[in-house]
Order: sequence, then C-alpha cells, then structure tokens
Amino acid sequence: MRWIMCCANRGRRILRIVTRNSTIVRHAVTGDAEAISAIGSQAFSAAYAKFNDAGDISTHLRDHYSPAAIRHEMELQDRFYLLALVDQEPAGLCKMCKGATPEGIPEPASLEIQQLYIHPAHQRRGIGKALVDAARLEARSANLSGVWLGVWEKATWAIDFYSNYGFAKCGSHTFMLASSQQTDLLMWISARTRDD
Ligand SMILES: CC(C)(COP(=O)(O)OP(=O)(O)OC[C@H]1O[C@@H](n2cnc3c(N)ncnc32)[C@H](O)[C@@H]1OP(=O)(O)O)[C@@H](O)C(=O)NCCC(=O)NCCS
Repeated sequence: MRWIMCCANRGRRILRIVTRNSTIVRHAVTGDAEAISAIGSQAFSAAYAKFNDAGDISTHLRDHYSPAAIRHEMELQDRFYLLALVDQEPAGLCKMCKGATPEGIPEPASLEIQQLYIHPAHQRRGIGKALVDAARLEARSANLSGVWLGVWEKATWAIDFYSNYGFAKCGSHTFMLASSQQTDLLMWISARTRDD
C-alpha cells in the first residue's frame, strides 16, 4: 500500500489517499452531514441494535447521528469529522474530539476518537485502518502525544480491530446509551509511527 500526502482544497483538506482501493480520507464539511448520518446510522444499527433496547437505539441515533445533531457537533470548536470516500462515495466516518482525557490514558495530551463507523458494505477493506492512520496524523499535527477512545466492553470485533492496530487497553469508564449504563474499555495508542 502506498500513501500520498495531499494539500488543502477549499476547506476539504485531504489527508491521505490509500492507493490499494481508491480510498480518500478528508475533513468533513457541513454539506457532508447527511452522508455521515446515513453511514453512522446504518453501521451503528447493524452493529449494536441486536444487543440493546430498540428505544435506546432510536434515542441514541436521534441524538448523535441525525443530520441536525451532526451539524451541531460540527459547529463546536473542539470536534471535527474525517470522512473516507471510496470511488468518491462516502464509506466511513471518524469523529474526533480535543476535549479532556479520562484518568488512565497514559498521555493526557491526546485526541479522542468518539465515533468510528464504516458502512457495512465497506467493512474489512482497510478503511477503518486508514481512518485511524489519519486520526493519528491529526494528533501529530496538533502536537498531541496520542489517540484514545472508549469501546463497549462487549464489542469484541471492535476491540479486536483496535488491538490488532496496536491500541493498548488502559482502563474503563461508564458510557450512557440513552437510558442504558454500559462499560467502555479505554484504549490508547501513541500518535507517533515507526516513520517518525
Ligand atoms: C470495527 C470497524 C471500525 C473496523 O473497520 P474496517 O474498515 O472494517 O476494518 P479494516 O479493514 O481496516 O481492518 C483492519 C484489520 O483490523 C482487524 N479487524 C477488522 N475488523 C475485525 C473484526 N470484525 N474482527 C476481528 N478483527 C478485525 C483485522 O486484523 C483487519 O485486517 P484484515 O482484514 O486484513 O484481517 C468497522 O468494522 C465498523 O465500523 N464496525 C461496526 C461499528 C463499530 O463497531 N465501530 C467501532 C465503535 S468503537
């Protein structure tokens, strides 16, 4: 796989291109809210609806994956979305936050991955990895030490993905899925790569 760095283009900054399967990762803009909503809603439902109460799922989707909720998040200074496109079609999203870091994260100056969702039709094709690569690049660009996230303790597929990528478990915290209290594992990885 070969990586190519690209430059800013009218606010839609392209971070990297994965030449293996024509994936482009770029910063999302307000006009991407509908596409992000569609990918996030479908991927979230496909992964989590079977484990949770239908009412909690629909409340969570409305509060976090509706176009209005996404547009609201995009207006906040400390959040942004990365969008992965395959053959120019949106296929995956990564929502990042520059907020406070919970206890247990080895380097407090770290960027959070709040959401990482690949459309079910595009999973296992390297898009999740490309988005995490781009998230670490964002952390490096902001002079931050690493990237952290919380992942539901029962989402074994996602824990396997992050562990295989190189994230280390470093604690746990509580996550509210609407009315349901759940435990998320905390995971962290350095922003530095072998090439740095
Ligand atoms: C988990 C997720 C983000 C991974 O993204 P992806 O694009 O499918 O994964 P990639 O193709 O980049 O996977 C890279 C490597 O991670 C590992 N991996 C990925 N998905 C895996 C799975 N379901 N089970 C075990 N290992 C997995 C594999 O080692 C894989 O390499 P391989 O395909 O050559 O074996 C994606 O499948 C997804 O959106 N799932 C549903 C939503 C979700 O759970 N999101 C995470 C919330 S915290």
